[in-house]
Amino acid sequence: MLELFIPGPTNVDQNVAQSLTKPMTGHRAPEFSELFAEVDQNLKKILYTQNRVFQLTCAATGAWEAVSRNFVGKGVLHVVNGAFSQRWAEISEICGKEVGVIELPWGKAVKPEQIRERLLTGKFDAVALAHNETSTGVLANLEEISSMLKREFPDVLFLIDSVSSMAGVKIEIDKLGVDACFASLQKAWGLPSGYALLCVSENAMERSREQKNKGYYFDLEVYDKFYKKNQTPYTPSIPHIYGLQTQTKRILEEGLDNRFKRHKSMAKFARNWVLENGFELFSEEGYHSETLTCVANTREIDIEKVAKVLKEKGYLFDKGYGKIKFKTFRISHMGETTQERLEKFLKTLEETIKASN
Ligand SMILES: Cc1ncc(COP(=O)(O)O)c(C=O)c1O
Repeated sequence: MLELFIPGPTNVDQNVAQSLTKPMTGHRAPEFSELFAEVDQNLKKILYTQNRVFQLTCAATGAWEAVSRNFVGKGVLHVVNGAFSQRWAEISEICGKEVGVIELPWGKAVKPEQIRERLLTGKFDAVALAHNETSTGVLANLEEISSMLKREFPDVLFLIDSVSSMAGVKIEIDKLGVDACFASLQKAWGLPSGYALLCVSENAMERSREQKNKGYYFDLEVYDKFYKKNQTPYTPSIPHIYGLQTQTKRILEEGLDNRFKRHKSMAKFARNWVLENGFELFSEEGYHSETLTCVANTREIDIEKVAKVLKEKGYLFDKGYGKIKFKTFRISHMGETTQERLEKFLKTLEETIKASN
């Protein structure tokens, strides 16, 4: 079995994997609602929220579409600083929304002033950004952006893609006033792919009620009706909910502060490794991701060759993403990854690079 050091899917704990095979129940049975309610309580703790946490049987790409269709009225301002934030902006357009873009060089982080300037045009009632741009390893500063939005644009909805940060980085949703925050489970949650969580504020629900053309599968008003009964509108992936039951318990047992500290310290270790090994960090100083490290391939190593050798040694290694593939590579340190496993992997990576180049 390969150990995954790619930024998703990530490794799944054995107990969690086993819980996915529990016997099925009916999604309208009382036992299901009990299970859903238990998971929901745990999710609220992990996300520091009293808001609804919708469960969607789809990849995060579905959540992108749901958010764009439900929460954008007049227009949405997208921050684009990498492959994933770019794709989300494209999805908003495809969904027929008025889209404005703050286009940044890949690797850079947005500053509140850049958002403020564009919002002053009055064209937008939503801001959308990737909290953790997985292609470049840039972590946005939500606190700074949120305080500017609260102070100057209280009616603008704050929509964040936290696909590769949620459950690995502390996101105090209610305190930050984030209106929509979503992730799929195959990254820092440490669960298999194909399921997404979407946390939605009351203001965002109000916006959804005003929208037309929300499509069928992602009309969140329908999700809300069923959420009140601890159900989902359509037959969900019940194995994922069993997985979430086990994994949310494990996360709370680890302790949220411990979990976020673990991610921070692994990130620091990875960054030191990068610099000590003569590479550079691709992400802007002060905005480095805590769940993955994007490495600028300044030594011009043969990434394909390194990946091949690492595979023989039992590791799946990332080769960079999108237009910066091979110019960068990414080291994932999230979910089930521990300091010990990361150190072992980086030692092997170092030896492999030495031997292959
Ligand atoms: C930041 C970000 N957003 C969205 C996605 C899309 O997720 P999914 O493959 O679950 O649709 C990814 C996938 O890597 C991602 O990293």
